[in-house]
Amino acid sequence: MNVLILGGDGYLGWPTAMHLTAHGHTVAVVDSYLRRSLCRQENVEPLVDVPNLHQRTALWESIAGHHIPVYIGDLTDWMFVTEVFRRFSPDSIVHYAEQPAAPYSMLNRKAALLTLRNNLETTANIIFAVNQFCPEAQIVKLGTMGEYGTPNIDIEEGWLNVEHKGRQQKFLFPRQAGSLYHTTKIMDTDLLWLYVRMWDLRVTDLMQGPVYGIFTTENRDHEQLYSFLNYDELFGTVLNRFIIQAAAAYPMTVYGKGGQTRGYLNIIDTLNCVRLSLENPAQKGELRIFNQFTETFSVSQLADRVQQVARTLGLAAEIARVDNPRKEAEDHYYKPEHTGLLELGLDPHYLTDDVLAEMIEFALKHKDKIKPEQIYRKIRWNPDGE
Ligand SMILES: NC(=O)c1ccc[n+]([C@@H]2O[C@H](COP(=O)([O-])OP(=O)(O)OC[C@H]3O[C@@H](n4cnc5c(N)ncnc54)[C@H](O)[C@@H]3O)[C@@H](O)[C@H]2O)c1
Repeated sequence: MNVLILGGDGYLGWPTAMHLTAHGHTVAVVDSYLRRSLCRQENVEPLVDVPNLHQRTALWESIAGHHIPVYIGDLTDWMFVTEVFRRFSPDSIVHYAEQPAAPYSMLNRKAALLTLRNNLETTANIIFAVNQFCPEAQIVKLGTMGEYGTPNIDIEEGWLNVEHKGRQQKFLFPRQAGSLYHTTKIMDTDLLWLYVRMWDLRVTDLMQGPVYGIFTTENRDHEQLYSFLNYDELFGTVLNRFIIQAAAAYPMTVYGKGGQTRGYLNIIDTLNCVRLSLENPAQKGELRIFNQFTETFSVSQLADRVQQVARTLGLAAEIARVDNPRKEAEDHYYKPEHTGLLELGLDPHYLTDDVLAEMIEFALKHKDKIKPEQIYRKIRWNPDGE
């Protein structure tokens, strides 16, 4: 397949590019470096410097022999989008190119509007470009389990059959997100569903849980090919943050009661889920939705697991219960389905003690680079400034 990866510089985009080329697909990557620029603006840097896309693609080509063209530009810019689609002619598009951080989206009005505009405009431009240049191509779009929120009923895989006054209809599963970022993902799904119905697009929307880890089959022996590992409260995801906090002897910041439960997955499984979705495409006129996670944990369970393993490595790994800066249920029912990707052949990589130990050891190796002042700035869900 000719796969265009949008957001190819990102935490997930770059490992996906290597993974798909290693599995025989032709890949090009597109990115505006928005994430790097927002991190710099907010003075939060990843643990280890990440070479730019031109440097990483050159290194990957020298190691594995796969050439990956790079397009640097902003996917909210229609002229740039048309140029990329004309030059690369994809038959598959993986759409990661969004502002992905819930806390950033809740930071202030400017961050909120950037998230709203960026995420909806990239999605809309991709829909229009596919319809204009490659209407048979499939779109694999990254959504989030956060679209569903934490309802008091079981979460189905995307859809719900509703019976009302003796009649029945299948609807998108009810969604109520807990941040503006997650709400933009709901809006993306609505946009895709509209144009699937109007223009017979072929779409898979992956409701992904928080991802952890940095090691993949392709990058394992090459630190220069690792992804961003952010450990700050804006761009770091929870397990990655706890690992670095444990390594830095910084008490793990469990928000509130710590009963917030979500579905998690190893970065290796993200790559496999995306590849399996591409290799088993949705039909024309189908919006196919998979819940993409392998295990559920509460925040307290994650902190306890990190603590147990960190202690075997001689670390204190204290846990601090801090006031919850977010507005969210801290104790709730959570039972999401996730069979679709398993049926496609996903072989999950679970969160074992070995997986945790390997990540903690990596963090310890780079302990001198951890900036404790970046870890927790108490960014609240109700900001009061621009
Ligand atoms: N990482 C997770 O735990 C997680 C969980 C659920 C869903 N997701 C979703 O997966 C996708 C990828 O997440 P990630 O963690 O790799 O995020 P990321 O920020 O590392 O990657 C996204 C990339 O897209 C680029 N981008 C954003 N807007 C762009 C634009 N207008 N033009 C060109 N490039 C643009 C960014 O510069 C960045 O490199 C996102 O859509 C995110 O919402 C991620």
